[in-house]
Amino acid sequence: MERVLEPTADPLWILEEQGHNPLRESGIESRFTIANGFLGVRGARAVSRGPTWVSWLHTLTWSSWPRTYVAGLFDTPDTDPPVPALVPAADWLRVRILVNGAPLLLREGHLLAHERKLDMNRGVMLTEWHQRNSRGVDVWVRTLRLVSLADRAVGLQLLRLELDRDNLDVRLEASFEGAGLGLDPVLVEPDLGIWRTWQSGKTLAMTGAASLHLDGREVMPSLRDHLRWSWNWQSVAGQVVALDRLAAVSRGDSPDGGAGRMAREALERNRAIGWRGVVAAHEAAWATRWECSDIMVEGDDAALRALRFAIYHLNGSANPADERVSIGARALTGDSYLGHVFWDTEIYLVPFYIVTWPEAARALLMYRYHTLGGARAKAVRMGWRGALYAWESADTGEETTPEEIIGPDGQIIRVLCGREEQHISADVAYAVMQYWRASGDDGFLLEAGAEIVLETARFWASRGVKEADGRRHIRGVIGPDEFHETIDDNAYTNIMAQWNIRTALDLAALLRERWPARWAELAGRLGLDDAEFASWREAADTLVTGQLPGVDLIEQFAGFFQLEEVDLAQYAGRTAAMDVLLGRERTKRSQVIKQADVVALLALLPDAFDARTKLANFRYYEPRCGHDSSLSRSMHAVVAARMGDVDMALRYFRATAAIDLEDKAAGSAGGVHIAALGGLWQTAIFGFAGLSLRGEAPAFDPHLPRDWQGLGFGVHWRGRRIRVRIEPDALTATLEAGEQVPILVRGVAHEIPPGETVRIALG
Ligand code: BGC
Repeated sequence: MERVLEPTADPLWILEEQGHNPLRESGIESRFTIANGFLGVRGARAVSRGPTWVSWLHTLTWSSWPRTYVAGLFDTPDTDPPVPALVPAADWLRVRILVNGAPLLLREGHLLAHERKLDMNRGVMLTEWHQRNSRGVDVWVRTLRLVSLADRAVGLQLLRLELDRDNLDVRLEASFEGAGLGLDPVLVEPDLGIWRTWQSGKTLAMTGAASLHLDGREVMPSLRDHLRWSWNWQSVAGQVVALDRLAAVSRGDSPDGGAGRMAREALERNRAIGWRGVVAAHEAAWATRWECSDIMVEGDDAALRALRFAIYHLNGSANPADERVSIGARALTGDSYLGHVFWDTEIYLVPFYIVTWPEAARALLMYRYHTLGGARAKAVRMGWRGALYAWESADTGEETTPEEIIGPDGQIIRVLCGREEQHISADVAYAVMQYWRASGDDGFLLEAGAEIVLETARFWASRGVKEADGRRHIRGVIGPDEFHETIDDNAYTNIMAQWNIRTALDLAALLRERWPARWAELAGRLGLDDAEFASWREAADTLVTGQLPGVDLIEQFAGFFQLEEVDLAQYAGRTAAMDVLLGRERTKRSQVIKQADVVALLALLPDAFDARTKLANFRYYEPRCGHDSSLSRSMHAVVAARMGDVDMALRYFRATAAIDLEDKAAGSAGGVHIAALGGLWQTAIFGFAGLSLRGEAPAFDPHLPRDWQGLGFGVHWRGRRIRVRIEPDALTATLEAGEQVPILVRGVAHEIPPGETVRIALG
């Protein structure tokens, strides 16, 4: 076999699926997605089938769902409210093989082998299919696909076909299928298609080149038309026929955005280097990513593989070159959540990029800067000031949360998150500060970050309203726990709001002192003055937080402690969400929590609470949480690990890893749960390694699981790259790049000179 089709030898880099079961297909396709932050291609079979339905389930259900997503290619349907969604590009991998006129099908003859491998190391998907057709002819099909990490516009498909007979008529058809699905054709030429969205004013261009070789000799296509090619030949037993196809895609953000030209140029520069050059550049780009982001776990291969799976998808989700897009709740791996961006990005994903890929973190935060207009408009529309970010955001920053959905019992449910789930504004500010502290990127702070923090603080100051008790209240919100709606004084929301306001005040003082000219310009443009700052200070100081003097327990929201207590242990092993089992109304009246809420606060602001408060709240809230969101367990894992309850943290770590890798509830069909994957990474780094980015030096307080003999990873910190290795009795840090840097280990500072390694004993 050609080397390029062979997977990386170490099985810990490989995700593998044997056989073919249409009922499981959709989740597999999500897991096996190849992506580069611009293009995402689900791991559907390329040969002989397009979208496939499974009609023997209760309703017609898509089994195979071949999809190529283009980041930021949103369109808005003609509905009220208009909820934009990512529209798919053409399936550029489609292949049909005919032997003596009969298409090669999985279900005809005998399926002798069918295997898919995701080579996470190289960022490629490999397939092998061995079929004996109904006439007894053995056919082998091997493929490789990638979307280039070195040149994001480009995808490559290699297919190798072999038959065991001479003199059969073979025909291979390669096409771009479903092009224009939901799009309006502008131009369709033999080698180029350009489409436009119906309403959002975007264009999509796709072009491709394909060639077929027999024994190194190129065979001319018998048909070549509109991104379709067909070749006919006579088989020779054992002869390997090679199809090589390149596709290039571009998105234009204005109707005349030159998308066709960009796609053509991308194709040409990649044709010029040939498919071997494309593979080499792509593999080199992945090697760089892995060098920055790989984790070594010694003593727990399952954990290592799960972390690599998470890191693989995280690396494939971001694009540092595009500040106009962010990462949807299922990244570019499936249709669920329509490509919309939630707090998932800032709270669950951005930390990974800050530590391993600061340029990607910056681009994600710049997306929030470019969508500040939408956030300001939302605040004004709802009667407040400053910036209230969309709970669900697409390309413009407008609120895009659907107002109604069909619930699990078939009833229509009103969705209030678009109006009430406002903590997103503080979450964005939190990520801005975390990025700036860890990167030292003052340019970003001055250009964009400060404005986000100030405008979100301004929102919160206007949002908290002073009442008769002399305190400010934030009424009518939804916290991270979405089981409880229209609640008052959610502790997560209010404490994050308070943090947001105080941080903005500190930042204003810093800017005024360090960059007076820039501050004068910014304060002037935003109309900020000392009187407003005084009112912010008063707002932060008087905001109700759910904390009472002398009481450790924080009330999740006003009245929470009076709600019905439900013993979740009685529901162990359930397969449905708690709000389905109890009914929505009873759930609302109970203390059953959908996901980490007060616990999320403990995770994000650990310095704001003493050890006793953290313990009391974790003990209280953890048993009340149903973990009915994939975002929940990792927050619990991080907090448990930091508190030293490593066994519990490891249980939550494994349960988080299982969400997509075991996919028991088939929830991965709509795409991988990228926030859970980010949370898995955080459990290892912020939990077990105990990394903190909150101070003036990276700090570590490790709590390794018992079986882990070693945990190794890299950290980017203010222009340095530090390689860290934690063993049960020591932490070793090497400064691989940048100037001397201090690190804190269990509160004690140690300097690391350039190129040197320090070993610090862990008592
Ligand atoms: C969760 C939210 C999350 C969203 C998208 C919801 O089920 O409750 O916290 O942002 O899914 O992942």
